[in-house]
Order: sequence, then C-alpha cells, then structure tokens
Amino acid sequence: PPSAMGEDVVREELGSLHGIPLYKCFVEGWPQVESFQARPDDLLIATYPKSGTTWLSEILDMIYHDGDVEKCRRDAIFNRVPFLEMKVPRLPSGVEQLEKTPSPRLVKTHLPVHLLPASFQDKGCKVIYMARNPKDVVISYYYFYQMAKIHPDPGTLNEFMETFMAGKVAYGSWYDHVKGWWEKKQEKQLLYLFYEDMKKDPQREVQKILQFLGKEVSEGMVARILHHTSFQEMKKNPAANYETMPTALMDHSLSPFLRKGISGDWKNHFTVAQNELFDQHYQEHMAGSDLHFQMEV
Ligand code: A3P
Repeated sequence: PPSAMGEDVVREELGSLHGIPLYKCFVEGWPQVESFQARPDDLLIATYPKSGTTWLSEILDMIYHDGDVEKCRRDAIFNRVPFLEMKVPRLPSGVEQLEKTPSPRLVKTHLPVHLLPASFQDKGCKVIYMARNPKDVVISYYYFYQMAKIHPDPGTLNEFMETFMAGKVAYGSWYDHVKGWWEKKQEKQLLYLFYEDMKKDPQREVQKILQFLGKEVSEGMVARILHHTSFQEMKKNPAANYETMPTALMDHSLSPFLRKGISGDWKNHFTVAQNELFDQHYQEHMAGSDLHFQMEV
C-alpha cells in the first residue's frame, strides 16, 4: 500500500542514467526532463551536489527580487528555485514545478554537462556553475547521504571515500563533472564560480554575478544580499535551511542541511593515509587540466 510521503524511496540503491549513478525515481522521470522546454530568460544554476547550490540559489533569488528579504521568504528555496530533474513519488516533479513558474525562472540542476537538455543551449540560456574542492565535497556529501534518505547507506567514511573516488555516488564522478562544465566555459554564456572564492570574498563574487547578469545595484543592496545569504542567516531561515522538507526525506537531527559552511572541514575528518590516497587520485584525474582547486581558504 502507498506509504507516508517519501518512505518508498528510503535507502534504495541507485539506478543509472546513461551510465551516471542516480536515484531510480529521477531516472523514471527522465523523459520529461530530456524534452524540457527552456525559456530564453531562464537562468540555470548548475553544480555537483554539495558545492554551494543552495547558497548560490539564495543569492540569485535575492538579486532577482532587488534584495527584498520578505519576498525571498515567500516559499522554501526548493520551490523558489525548482530542481529540474527532481522526481519523487507524490510530489510535483521539478519539470511540473517549472512549468508553473513565471519568468524569469531560476532553475537548479546537478546534471553533468553532456546530459543537459538541449533546449537550454538552443534558447541560449545563461548558466552559472559553482564548483567546490572535492575533499570538502566528499565530507559534505557523506553527511548528506546520512540525513537525506533518498540515498543508499553511505557505510563508513572510508567506504564512502572509495565510492566517491570511483564515481559511484549519485551524479557520478566529481572529476568528470567539474571538468565537463569547465570545458563548456569557452561559450561565454557560462559563469564558472568556486565555493572557496565565495567564502574568501563574497562581495567580489556577487559583483561578478551582477556583471554577468548585466545588473547594476547599489552598494547597500549588495551588503543586504551578503548579510541575508551568510551561513548564519541562512541556517536560521526556514525558507533556506530545508527544515520544511518532510522528515521522511531529510532528517536534520542526523545532520543539518546547513552543516558547517566552511572550507577545509575535511582536515577534521581525513586521516593522513586517506589524504595521501585522495591527493594521488586527484592528481591522476586532474592531470593536464588547467582547472585548479583551493583545498582551504
Ligand atoms: P557543509 O556540509 O560543508 O556545511 P548544496 O547546497 O550544494 O547541497 O551544498 C551544501 C553545502 O553548502 C553545505 O556544506 C552547506 O553548509 C553549505 N552552505 C549552504 N549555505 C551556505 C552559506 N550561506 N555559506 C557557506 N556555506 C553554505
């Protein structure tokens, strides 16, 4: 019999979308995603999971609403910025949500660049990609696997690190993801940002975003955006912190969605041996690329 919302996706093994490990329910919804009709003024927010998607989304919603904090509390972030390929039983899919969203829309995706629906390219949509160093991503992802029950059991941290390095976590290889989107950057409709830069100098990064969007706002407005989107503010904001998600899907008592929000937390988790292995693997997989990451700030 149909169970409570989300129960039937709990701890299910991942399926596969054209060779990329992904939640089975998302794979089932793929035909609607593939034929998704983008609009020319859509802005796509693309990331590998746990790379600052929610942070970037809140910043963009603030920019889109001229820094009006109350307007940015109108709904939860996962409704204000629909998640393109999201599909879970008994909830509207990302595509269904987007069809009802008035323009200009903000669209979230974690898809690798080669699986992006053709319509975004055809309509010439702007894209902002945000990448984060893989050591912090793997730690953040490990905690997220525990609290977001759509994921299989992550096992021990050591096991999860192996799964991550093998590209067998949801959305597949981090290395392929960040490099794939990086190559796409030649087309100037794409702004490629780094979580570490955003931590170091959020004002400069927000200015980059404004310039990319062709918007000019006052310094006071930038200050308001930075304040509202700080980790502390977002953590206590129910419209940004995911606490309104059904507990069957996300259990914040296991680990909060806004967990630490720093760069370099991996140092509190990696052993020396794990770090050496990770560095070696990183060098092999990033060799020959001009894409570089700061492992701390
Ligand atoms: P940690 O688990 O390291 O704390 P995503 O939104 O892509 O799922 O990424 C989630 C990560 O971004 C989490 O990292 C979360 O705490 C962090 N994050 C969210 N909002 C943030 C903010 N305003 N400033 C810094 N980090 C933030």
